[in-house]
Amino acid sequence: MKRQITLIVVILSLCMLFILQLSKNSSAVVTGDCEACHGLYPGMMEEAEPGKPPQYVLKNVLCVNCHSNADRDTIKILGGAKVPVVYNTVKPVKPLAGGNFHYVARDFGDRRGHNVEAVTSMDTRFKGVPPGYDRLADPSIIGYNQEKPLKCAGSNGCHGNRNVEDPFDSIMGAHHADDSAIDGSTTARSYRFLKNTNKVKGVVGLEDDEWNQNRTSKKHNEYSASIDLLCASCHGNFHSKNKTGKESPWFRHPTGVVLPKSGEYTNYNPDVPPPSDRPDIRIYSPDAPVGREKVPKSPGDEVRPGKDIVICLSCHVAHGSSYESILRWDYDALIAGEKSKGGCFICHTGKGE
Ligand code: HEC
Ligand code: HEC
Ligand code: HEC
Ligand code: HEC
Ligand code: HEC
Repeated sequence: MKRQITLIVVILSLCMLFILQLSKNSSAVVTGDCEACHGLYPGMMEEAEPGKPPQYVLKNVLCVNCHSNADRDTIKILGGAKVPVVYNTVKPVKPLAGGNFHYVARDFGDRRGHNVEAVTSMDTRFKGVPPGYDRLADPSIIGYNQEKPLKCAGSNGCHGNRNVEDPFDSIMGAHHADDSAIDGSTTARSYRFLKNTNKVKGVVGLEDDEWNQNRTSKKHNEYSASIDLLCASCHGNFHSKNKTGKESPWFRHPTGVVLPKSGEYTNYNPDVPPPSDRPDIRIYSPDAPVGREKVPKSPGDEVRPGKDIVICLSCHVAHGSSYESILRWDYDALIAGEKSKGGCFICHTGKGE
């Protein structure tokens, strides 16, 4: 068995070398010591039956294990590759763009993250049902199965092709594929492997090479409204225009709307005024990011009222945060008036009216 695996790895290495030769310029392709990943994690490369793809036995647990860390660092090195860490067992320093599952995994409570299988048990409040789920807004042919846990990928998850139930099958090949162009055409070429489904184009965006670990107004991921469609596949009612806004409870905040070029919004991020040679723009705040109409080629430090868009991720992070409802800030302190800076006030500046 062991020898067969070694042989398979050797043969695959040769194939990979050939493929890698063809895609030399791409940066995020996983290369390096095959064994470090495929040997360390049992089940990563089980022997394949002739003509069939290799079987992974550990499934979702494996995504979580490899993307976890026992210490505080949120990027770890494995087999020469940088692994983005989304779950630190101790409090993370510099959580990545999606936040960190640390906050939902322990005693902090269900409300601080997506209760993903292998990180924590089912959410006691929502009982595994995505709040605001609308089957019609979910493009997956399988749909979300409320009897089963939320996973990293697949039809009950966010990453990969949601037409495929199994988390690994849904991202198969993505880690080793050329992802130098993020156009939403394949899983690898979708922003952070967020493919949606075959019918719906994957999420597009600009990927910071450190997954936002060292984000500033000048260096950060860039989002587009396409990421809202991903959220909407499980939370349709939070996205649909007739269920948000004035008629509904306020927290179904308008999303996909342009930051108006009038009133308080012209003062976005009041703490950081624009330089005098660019008086018409506002400075990007990584604490309340906006989406772009068109994904830029490099990150921009400008926010333009009248153009840039409010997205789900303006207020939420995707994985977990230290605040309830996976928010970027402490909403309770904001509404209680304890704080009059940051959070909602980055956009609702209350000035300029
Ligand atoms: C940093 C970890 C890591 C390293 C190093 C690594 N792999 Fe992988 N590999 C993965 C992961 C994760 C998957 C499964 C997910 C996927 O397919 O995207 C995978 C999947 C595969 C697959 C099946 C999917 C496909 O692309 O056909 C093959 C074959 C493979 N690896 C070969 C190799 C070879 C050969 C090497 C050494 C040159 C190697 N891997 C090094 C992490 C790694
Ligand atoms: C053996 C380790 C390993 C396993 C198992 C693994 N990954 Fe990864 N993953 C990596 C490495 C290394 C990278 C960084 C390289 C890259 O960006 O492609 C990565 C990157 C990613 C990214 C970010 C891609 C980007 O654009 O930066 C996502 C999303 C992801 N993995 C999801 C998954 C999911 C979902 C699974 C399980 C189905 C999984 N991973 C299993 C090692 C692993
Ligand atoms: C594959 C389905 C799926 C997708 C896609 C998805 N979610 Fe969720 N979400 C769930 C489920 C299931 C729950 C309820 C269980 C839980 O909280 O873990 C939930 C809960 C939430 C909650 C409430 C958390 C709490 O406990 O109070 C927020 C906020 C949220 N999601 C935001 C988002 C955002 C933003 C996106 C897009 C980046 C997104 N979701 C994408 C399935 C999904
Ligand atoms: C302007 C900020 C903002 C935006 C944009 C936003 N949300 Fe929220 N969302 C909130 C706040 C604040 C709460 C918590 C409300 C509460 O606890 O009363 C919340 C709560 C939620 C919940 C949990 C509902 C519950 O019953 O506890 C989900 C799910 C959710 N949002 C999904 C989304 C999705 C999906 C999008 C994008 C389509 C989105 N949100 C856009 C601020 C926002
Ligand atoms: C990224 C910028 C941004 C952030 C952050 C933000 N908002 Fe908004 N908010 C807007 C925009 C844009 C509108 C729509 C204005 C319009 O269409 O006239 C809006 C509208 C609203 C409305 C009116 C809803 C309606 O249509 O009747 C309320 C209430 C509101 N926001 C509350 C909040 C609260 C509370 C928070 C913090 C949890 C928050 N907002 C955070 C940009 C933001």
